[in-house]
This record gives sequence, structure tokens and C-alpha cells, in this order.
Amino acid sequence: MYIIYAFLHRYCLGYTIKSMAKDAFYVTTPIYYVNDVPHIGHAYSTVAADVLARFNRCLGNNTFFLTGTDEHGQKVARAAAAKELTPKQHTDQMVKPFKDLWKRLNISYDRFIRTTDKDHEEMVQAIFNKLKEQGDIYAGHYEGWYCVHEETFYPESQLEDGNKCPECKREVEWVKEENYYFKVKKYLPGLLKLIKAGDFNILPQTRQNEVVSLIESGSLEDVSISRTGIKWGVPVPGDPEHVIYVWFDALLNYLSGIGYHPNNNKQKPTFNGYWPADVQIIGKDILKFHCIIWPAMLLALGLELPEMIFAHGFLTLGQEKISKSKGMVINPNDLIDKYGADAYRYFFLSEFTFGLDGEYTEETMIKKINSDLANDLGNLVHRTANMMQKYFDGVVPAEIKNGDNWFAMHIKHPENNAEAMKATLGQLWFRLALESIWGNVRILNKYIEDSAPWALKKEGREEELATVMYTLAEGIRIISQLIYPFMPETAQKIWEQIGMPGNVADEPFDNVAKWGLLKPDSTFKVSEPLFPRIEV
Ligand code: MSP
Repeated sequence: MYIIYAFLHRYCLGYTIKSMAKDAFYVTTPIYYVNDVPHIGHAYSTVAADVLARFNRCLGNNTFFLTGTDEHGQKVARAAAAKELTPKQHTDQMVKPFKDLWKRLNISYDRFIRTTDKDHEEMVQAIFNKLKEQGDIYAGHYEGWYCVHEETFYPESQLEDGNKCPECKREVEWVKEENYYFKVKKYLPGLLKLIKAGDFNILPQTRQNEVVSLIESGSLEDVSISRTGIKWGVPVPGDPEHVIYVWFDALLNYLSGIGYHPNNNKQKPTFNGYWPADVQIIGKDILKFHCIIWPAMLLALGLELPEMIFAHGFLTLGQEKISKSKGMVINPNDLIDKYGADAYRYFFLSEFTFGLDGEYTEETMIKKINSDLANDLGNLVHRTANMMQKYFDGVVPAEIKNGDNWFAMHIKHPENNAEAMKATLGQLWFRLALESIWGNVRILNKYIEDSAPWALKKEGREEELATVMYTLAEGIRIISQLIYPFMPETAQKIWEQIGMPGNVADEPFDNVAKWGLLKPDSTFKVSEPLFPRIEV
């Protein structure tokens, strides 16, 4: 563990994320199109954001976690038409599968924003007016290619085979219409400066490099931010033939969601408390919108840029981006039915490196659940509970040697756990954070083997036995705190099983670096294995 920490310090902590130390923490996910039901790609960002939100609440930070749905635009309108519904009827129906899935995955969002929410629509129009009045929005006309699936305009030079979208490979459509434009170009020099000064962080570094080269290439143009060809969108104020472009509308959810309003008297106090956002999680396909257009909009509004935007990789199937509309159906609900929400959450964040693509297979998932959850964690708790029952009637003994054994020394050392978690999660290195926690789980299992409580019992070495059993129980208490942001249900189950009072969620995170919080005489219950082995 110490090695991981030293590595982090040496190579990665060039800067420390402010959010991990300040008392307000604002995290967002992309808002999802409601043309179809959610898939494992959507759940990936949302679970990751939930881990950060839960972790920050444990750190005592005043946390706001925003997620929601992106409901306007041509793609959603067409999905509605295909079902012979109005767009509003369709979106009202489609929000449910998202909310239901988030509930099943224990997503602890503070607000679920819909771009059809009245306060959002009103704010988008007010911002449109403000930017128009200050000369950052102007009327023009657009003629070119548009991909409805990506809701994106593309220059001809970027098309594949002359007429295919470079992102989703679908055929693009020719659009010729009057538009309003937003002056992105005007803000690019300022944006570049902020990126280079480290005031606006795009992670992983490769994505930041991409954004910098794109700006430096000089190829970026002002963006069209209204459409006349469609009706399903926020109307442009004073020009009802136009609706606001779905991306301009959608990006602003990050502000309306916490109560921003350009007319200051309408702004909610929450806005300043939470802005600038600490972490905005996105997928790598929407980098340009979030790292060029979005910051330009913020600069135009005179607002600070988010502290960090993290673009994760794609979950792939046969090396292709998983996408429902390409018929690659992996329903997160089926996986939750089979393996449970915590195993689901654990698998996706421990198996894949967040910034890189990762190939999904159910076999890998089963393997991981069996080895890490059934064997390592499940057995640790199960064996300890059984021995506690057998040797101490299920009552945690007092530690005679007072925490000076090697395991206690290791686990209570702040660098090994508390600091490692702050450092890894500060960089959104979920996988590394879990590896470091599982280091403890495995060490505790080894500690059982090495100290052989059954032999101590047999030889009548009662004091040593008490120390070993206390150490195991207290070690498990620390582990349950460490896994809580990732696996909230399991952490609470363990918390109750070992006899800790209240909720693990309310336990200050820094208690992971304290030894001796589990009171002797607590009842450590025997229970069913936490994760039954999956037989295939
Ligand atoms: N509505 C826009 C986002 C607006 S945010 C102001 C959008 N929606 S989406 O539903 O198409 O995609 C939402 C997110 O899911 C994106 O970050 C995208 O990268 C992510 N994923 C979609 N498929 C994915 C995988 N197969 N793997 C991982 N994430 C991927 O874009």
C-alpha cells in the first residue's frame, strides 16, 4: 500500500484537487438522451460520480451531485414519432427507466434534472438573451452536414466515406437553415491560457493534449446554437421559428441544476456555494462540447471554469463502443438481478481503468465477483464471524496487546488508507483505490492464516487469541468504511454485522486512520455469506 502511495506522490500528484480539501463539492454526470433506455455505458459515469459524492459526504464536504436527462433535439423527437407519441409523452415515459435504474444502483443524486424542467428552460432563455445582448450571439445561416444521432454538425473534411458521421458512422444529413451563432472563437485564447496555467484541468492528460491541439490548430469556428428545422426544443426568445440547439441547452443544466440565473435577483444561494464544479464526468466522445464550447460559454457568462473535467473511456463489446441503437443490448437491470447492485458497482470500477476503453464480458464479471467478493471479502467476514462465534460466543474480545501487532500498525497508518483513498479518488483512479483497499482485505486473510486462531485456541493462548480476533474485527470495521463509497449496501451490512452503531455513511472518513473504535463486547453476528459464489 505504501508503495502505491509513494508512486502517487512521485508521479501523479503534481497538483492536488482543491475539492478534496474544501467544504463544498459539486459533481456532475452527462445528462442522458432519452431516445432509449439506459445501458451500461450510462451507468458507468453515474456510478463513478456516485462514489465521489458518497466519499465527499464522508469527508464532511457539503456535496451536490447532479445527474439527469437530455430531452430535447431531433434524435429524441424522432424516437417519439416512431412510437406515435408526442415528444413530451415520450420523454415523460423514458425518464422512468433512468430513475428506476439509479434507484436500484443506489445512486445518491441530489437533483435529477430534466431539460424540460421549467426552471431550466427559463434560465436557458435568459442566458440566450444575455449573450445576445452582449454581442456573443449573432444571426447567421448554416449550410452543411448534421448527424442526428450525435446531434452534431460536421465539416465535410471530417466525414467518413464522404457521407458518414465520424463518431457513430451513420449517414449525415444536409441542413440548410437560418441560425444563431455563439462566438466560441472569441474565447479560445483565454481558454487556452487557463488550460496551460493549470486552472482548468482536463483529465486524463491525453484528452487535455487533444483539446490543446484542436484549439491550436486554428480550425475551430463559431458554433450554430439554434435550429429552425425542428420544433422540439427551448424556443429562442423573440424568434419562435427557432429552437435552441440541444447541446447549448443541455450544457447549461450544470448551472440551472444548482440554481444559477443570469439575472442575479433570481439566482439561488446554492449556486455560489457549489460553483465552480469540482468534477464533471463525461465520456470521451463529448470532449469537444465540454472542453471547448462549454468553457467558452462560461467565460462569456463571466463564470469560473470547472475545476476538472474527466473524460472516461468506452465500454466495448467486440472492441466496439456499446450502444443500444447498434443492437448491443446489455441491460444493467439483468446484471443487477443476477449479481446485485454492489457487485455491479464494484465490477465496473475495479475491472476497467477509468480513462481507457475496456472490453466487457460477463465471464470477466463472474470471475471478478468470485475472486474479489466471494473469496477475498466474503470469506474474510464469514470466517471471522464464525471464529468469533466459536471462540468468544460472538462477542468481540478486548485487545490485550493494544494494537501493536503488525497488522494494526499497517492498517491504521494513514498513508496506507486514508491518504491513499484521497489521492486515488482525487484523480478518479477508482481501480487503483479499490486495489489498495483489496490489499488490506488480502492482508487480513493472510493474517488469519499466519496467526492461526484455531492453534492459539488449542494451545490455550487466550490473550493472543483475543488480540487476533479483535484485530480482525477492527480491521473489518476499517474496510467497511473504505468500501462504503463503492459498495454502500455491503458496507452497511458489515457495519451492522460487527456491531457498530448507526450508519457507516455517517462515520467521518478520517476514522479509517484510527484504531480501536470498535468497542469490545460488541456483538459480531454470524450471517449468510455476503457474496455467494457464482457457479457457471
Ligand atoms: N446528451 C448528451 C450529453 C449531454 S451532457 C450536457 C449525450 N448523451 S448520451 O446518452 O448519448 O451519452 C451520455 C454519456 O454516456 C456520454 O458521456 C457517453 O460517452 C456515455 N456512453 C455512451 N456509451 C458508452 C459506452 N459504451 N461506454 C462508456 N460510456 C459511453 O451524449
